[in-house]
Amino acid sequence: MSLFKKKSKIKFKKFESSIEASEYVAIEVLNEVKKGKKINLGLATGSTPILLYNALVSDYEETRTPWKNVSTYNLDEYLNLPEGHPQTYKEFMKKHLFSHIDINLDNTHFPKVNENYDSLIQLNGGIDIQILGIGTNGHIGFNEPGSLLKSITRVVDLTQETIDVNAKQFFAGNKDLVPKQAISMGLESILNAKKIYLLAFGYSKNEAMEKLYHAEKFDVNFPASALLQHNDVTVVFDNGTELDI
Ligand code: F6R
Repeated sequence: MSLFKKKSKIKFKKFESSIEASEYVAIEVLNEVKKGKKINLGLATGSTPILLYNALVSDYEETRTPWKNVSTYNLDEYLNLPEGHPQTYKEFMKKHLFSHIDINLDNTHFPKVNENYDSLIQLNGGIDIQILGIGTNGHIGFNEPGSLLKSITRVVDLTQETIDVNAKQFFAGNKDLVPKQAISMGLESILNAKKIYLLAFGYSKNEAMEKLYHAEKFDVNFPASALLQHNDVTVVFDNGTELDI
C-alpha cells in the first residue's frame, strides 16, 4: 500500500485485462463517432493501441457505423523511412484500422517536415479525443525526456532506450534498422486536445505508471507529467501493472 496520495486530477482506471481496458476506450470513442458529427481523433501507434483498434474494427464489422465524418491526426511518424515502408506509422494505421473501416484516407493525417501540423489541427477544429501510449521512459508521442511543456510538432531525436524497445517490438531486434529521428506532436500540441485517454499495459510500464500516479508537477525528465496540466485525462491500465489505486 502506497504512502502517497494522488494529488492530480488525472483519472486512473484499472481493468482485469488489456482487452477490457481497450474495450472501455473503444466505447468512449464510438459514442462520439456514432453521433455522426464531424470529429477529430488524435491517434497513437505502437503495440498498446492495437487492441483498441481491433475493438473499433469489430464494431465496424458488426454495425457498419460510418467513419466518413471522422478525421484522424497521428501523433508521430518516423523520419527517413521510404513511403510505403511497413514500419511507417502510416502503414501501421492502415494495417490495424484504416483499411478495415470506411474512413476517407484524405481525412487521415500524419505530421510532416515543413508543414505546420499544429495550425492544420487547430484550423480543422482541434482534436476531440486524443489516444496516447506511454514509453518506459515516460515519453508521450515521441516527446522524450527533456521535452518542454511548450513544445509543438517538431523533429525529435529518439533516445537509445526508445530505439532499443522499438527494435525489439517492430524491427526483429535489429537496432540499426530503427530510424534515429521522428517528427512528433509536442507536449503543448497534445495538451490542446479536448479529452485524452492514455493506455498502459503490462509490467514494462509499471515504473512509468507509478511515476505518473505520484506526479505532482511537470518534470521535464518525465514527459507524461505534462498531463497534470490538462483537465480531462483518463489513464486506463491493466493487471500487468502493480500500481494499486
Ligand atoms: C507512438 C507513440 C509512443 C508510444 C510509446 C509506447 O505513436 O506515441 O509514445 O505510445 O512508445 O509504445 P508501445 O505501445 O509499443 O509500448
